[in-house]
Formats: sequence, C-alpha cells, structure tokens
Amino acid sequence: MDTLPVPLEAQARAIAFTPMTEADLDAVHAVETSAYGHPWSPRHFRDSLQAGYPAVMLIGEAHAGESPWPPRPDGRWLLGYLVAMPGVDEVHLLNLTVNPPHQRQGWARFMLDALALWSRGQGALSLWLEVRQSNAPARRLYERCGFREVGVRRGYYPLSALQREDAVVMQLGLDGTRGTE
Ligand SMILES: CC(C)(COP(=O)(O)OP(=O)(O)OC[C@H]1O[C@@H](n2cnc3c(N)ncnc32)[C@H](O)[C@@H]1OP(=O)(O)O)[C@@H](O)C(=O)NCCC(=O)NCCS
Repeated sequence: MDTLPVPLEAQARAIAFTPMTEADLDAVHAVETSAYGHPWSPRHFRDSLQAGYPAVMLIGEAHAGESPWPPRPDGRWLLGYLVAMPGVDEVHLLNLTVNPPHQRQGWARFMLDALALWSRGQGALSLWLEVRQSNAPARRLYERCGFREVGVRRGYYPLSALQREDAVVMQLGLDGTRGTE
C-alpha cells in the first residue's frame, strides 16, 4: 500500500486529516453512538488522547446546501476518525469509524491506507486490530485492505448484560507480506 488512491468522492470534496482534540469529543461521540451498537464512551477517547495515542479525524468541506452533521465550528463534515496505539515494531488500530451518511464511499479504506503509510514511516512492521466476529462489513473491509485473520479472543467484547462476543484478531504485514503464517 505505497500509493494512496483517493476515493471518487474526494475529487469533488476537499478533505484533510486533522488531529483529534478534547474539543472535538462531542462531535466524535455523536458519530460514535450513531455508528456502533456498542460505542466507545467519551472517556475512552479522552484516555487515548491523554495517553498520546495517534488520533486523527478526516474532515471534508460541505457542498452547497448541505448541513454537516454533527455540527462543527468550521462548518465542515466529520467524515470519520481513527485512534491507534503504537507498540514495538507494530501499531494497533483501536478505533476506525466512518460517519454513517458517508459510508461506502471509500473513506475507511483511505484512512487505513494512510495509517499503514504512517505506521511504516514509524518503522512498524505490522498493523493489528480486533474486530467483533459479527461485524461483517468491517471484516470485509479489512480483508479487502490486505489484513488476514490470525486468531480469536474468546468473549473479548460485551454483547449484553449476560453475553460476550468473540474478537477476531487481524494483522497486516507492512513489509510486503499479508500477515504472519
Ligand atoms: C466498517 C466501516 C468503517 C467501513 O467504512 P466505509 O467508509 O463505509 O468503508 P469503505 O467505503 O472504505 O469500504 C471499503 C470496502 O469495505 C467493504 N465494506 C465496507 N462496508 C461494507 C458493508 N456495509 N457491507 C459489506 N462490505 C463492506 C467493501 O468491500 C468495501 O469495498 P466496496 O465498496 O468496493 O465493495 C463503517 O461501516 C463503520 O464506520 N462502521 C461502524 C464502525 C465499525 O464497525 N468500525 C470498525 C470497528 S473494528
């Protein structure tokens, strides 16, 4: 993933990555709760920011007549965001979310490609993540981006008051491989 193919929609909408700050957490939380059945709390994001983890938002200009949701002071769309945790020789993706009105337009793939390039630049050899077993769209996305399933964490996620759900562990090699054997 050395090149960064820009989604078709980006050809008509100026975009930019910008660091996530505490001032953004109301908007991030609004998207988070609209996108997930089991969203992160603002505390999760705050802890990640305070830990110094890379957290970036993808921002897009609004077209004439659009009312970007959630509202932001700059009047632009919060298209999506990601939070990652650097480790030794690796980067762990903790959160990747696309604002629902902008899903299926290539933004998640674009953010993953950017994360892979950044991680490689940091000297990381692989990207890791966990995904709910039931999250078929995300698993498909990661497969399409070259990740491969390397394990399962039993009962990793809460599902209900009484039930837990397994996590699928996925890895992307950043040294030209498609993950470990
Ligand atoms: C999963 C998610 C991040 C995908 O974002 P997105 O911007 O819509 O994804 P993209 O448009 O970049 O899609 C890239 C590929 O992923 C797969 N994909 C994405 N959404 C899919 C869906 N709903 N159903 C099936 N495949 C899907 C497709 O292969 C797609 O390629 P295609 O459109 O050429 O078929 C988004 O649906 C989301 O934010 N969901 C809620 C949060 C979440 O589950 N995050 C991941 C947690 S591990």
